[in-house]
Amino acid sequence: MKLAVLGASGRTGALVAHLARGRGHHVTGVVRTGNGTGTGRDHVADPLDPEALAPAFAGADAVVSAIGPRSARKPTSVLVDSATSAIAAMRLAGVRRLLVVSSSATAESGDTPVVAALVKPLLCSVFRHAWADVSAMEPVVRASGLDWTLVRAPMLTNGPARGRYRVQEERSVLGGLSLSRTDLAAFLLDRVEDPESIGKALSVAY
Ligand SMILES: NC(=O)c1ccc[n+]([C@@H]2O[C@H](COP(=O)([O-])OP(=O)(O)OC[C@H]3O[C@@H](n4cnc5c(N)ncnc54)[C@H](OP(=O)(O)O)[C@@H]3O)[C@@H](O)[C@H]2O)c1
Repeated sequence: MKLAVLGASGRTGALVAHLARGRGHHVTGVVRTGNGTGTGRDHVADPLDPEALAPAFAGADAVVSAIGPRSARKPTSVLVDSATSAIAAMRLAGVRRLLVVSSSATAESGDTPVVAALVKPLLCSVFRHAWADVSAMEPVVRASGLDWTLVRAPMLTNGPARGRYRVQEERSVLGGLSLSRTDLAAFLLDRVEDPESIGKALSVAY
């Protein structure tokens, strides 16, 4: 497949690009600086500018976005802005398949009583800017009319792949508090080729 990866300079995005290349896919990593993924197959563009993005999406089978705020505690709209921009660029380029990394904080059911009543409200208060951003982003993706999948991640780690995780549709993974970026990247790539995941928000965690 031909894939475009947004946020390819980030920790998850770089893993998605690396893993995809290992699986034999043709990958264009979209980065906002010249640093990129070091492969020479990067497209340098402002991901918030649809006209700059569209050429990177030309001929792609799917777009995967692992963009996220560099600081979850500062005001940000990078998730909603980058999703809006990616959707516009995909329309320009005629690409339909979109996978966006979201957060398990948005799942409204499926948590233990302690997580639902205490842990989640506390985290959503501490990370209120990131919470507001991700909450604004999901409806934009759902309303895109594209073949979208939202992948809701819990706390991400840099640990090794386990290759085993739990998945829930439109609800939390009960007690699933973490996931390695390596497993998240593999999950995203598996979903690219999984038509069953279209139009769904999937929570994934250990
Ligand atoms: N960290 C967690 O525990 C956690 C939990 C749940 C969900 N998530 C989500 O998981 C995804 C991956 O997280 P991560 O920690 O692996 O990512 P990361 O390493 O922090 O990378 C973030 C990526 O987003 C890009 N980015 C940030 N602000 C940008 C802006 N204003 N304009 C353009 N690009 C921008 C960065 O580009 P530069 O390299 O140019 O800065 C980088 O490529 C994100 O969507 C995040 O919200 C994370």
